[in-house]
Amino acid sequence: MRLPVLQHSRSDPLPAFDGPVRGLRDSHGRTIRDLRISITDRCNFRCVYCMEPDVRFMRKVELLTDAEIVRVVRVCHALGVRRVRLTGGEPSVHPTLAALIGDLWAIGLDDLSMTTNGSVMSEADLAECRNAGLQRLTISLDSLRPDRFAALTRSATSPQRVLESISAAKRVGLEPVRVNAVIMRGFNDDEIIDLAKLARELEIDMRLIEYMPLDSGRRWDLSKVVTADEMLERITGMFPLEPIGRERTSSPATRYRFVDGAPGRIGVIASVTRAFCSACSRLRITADGMVMPCLFSTNEYDLRFVLRQPGSTDDDIARFLAAATLRKQAGHTMHDEHYRQPDRPMSAIGG
Ligand code: 5AD
Ligand code: SF4
Repeated sequence: MRLPVLQHSRSDPLPAFDGPVRGLRDSHGRTIRDLRISITDRCNFRCVYCMEPDVRFMRKVELLTDAEIVRVVRVCHALGVRRVRLTGGEPSVHPTLAALIGDLWAIGLDDLSMTTNGSVMSEADLAECRNAGLQRLTISLDSLRPDRFAALTRSATSPQRVLESISAAKRVGLEPVRVNAVIMRGFNDDEIIDLAKLARELEIDMRLIEYMPLDSGRRWDLSKVVTADEMLERITGMFPLEPIGRERTSSPATRYRFVDGAPGRIGVIASVTRAFCSACSRLRITADGMVMPCLFSTNEYDLRFVLRQPGSTDDDIARFLAAATLRKQAGHTMHDEHYRQPDRPMSAIGG
């Protein structure tokens, strides 16, 4: 199959990388070990904090093929990337997901995980992904109330359906199952305690996420952010918590266990109030093959163009990735008065 060499209008210029490429190091002393790849921009939900109902998805030729994704991950692995997370859109709507997972796991990664909305896959699908090499799963669940869940996801799916996926993921051995909830003031912040209860009952890692300015509807403002401190305070009033630290220094969530010994854990992701940029080890690739050095980057670099150049070598790809990594910004500037939201919503970046 011959794919068209499309050049991205939004790509920023990237100076060539001189010298040998030994790994992916940025100019702030950070090394890239984690890659997040969006394998599709499509989704069956239209979450209010992510995409608008009238979203226009990209054309199929614009999206990276499975072979292109595998090639990029192979090159990244040779450059020191150890962990890969598949995101979307909704990655489980990808037509050849299990085969892609199998090809990626064969590369020799330490970890391969995926973030999903848990509304599409059956237990058999989950088992197929597990057998192909998927190690862990993160499922989003922002509300346990059916009417609210429907309004938030703008879908007909019930929270019950997602809870079934959580149980199924555990049964097929995709453990520990993590559950993500984005907390928005006046919308679902009255469910923080219920979500903490769920962590205890289902023995899961519940991650409460500060609402970030990544929604394509641009409805975000600081007054809708419930800070991680406030979330923890509210939970502690009911269930005292004890910090257990981060999984790795580069992990975004700070974690807690219940003092009374109940199973399950709470993690908070304080991207807004306590940026964890200094330890960041991540690079992101969008579904259309743009490198985004940071979730909040307004710069993107057109890797797809390099991939589709006739005769491009793995070394060309490695050089491009090394050059893009050097452009990784020190941290996000969300609190700056000149802060500009990335042009893409979360669905096109991959969470
Ligand atoms: N703020 C915080 N988290 C978000 N996600 C999507 N949009 C936002 C936002 N604006 C999270 C979802 C999902 C992951 C893919 O990204 O909760 O778990
Ligand atoms: Fe889809 Fe996830 Fe965006 Fe919701 S947050 S619309 S599930 S991609």
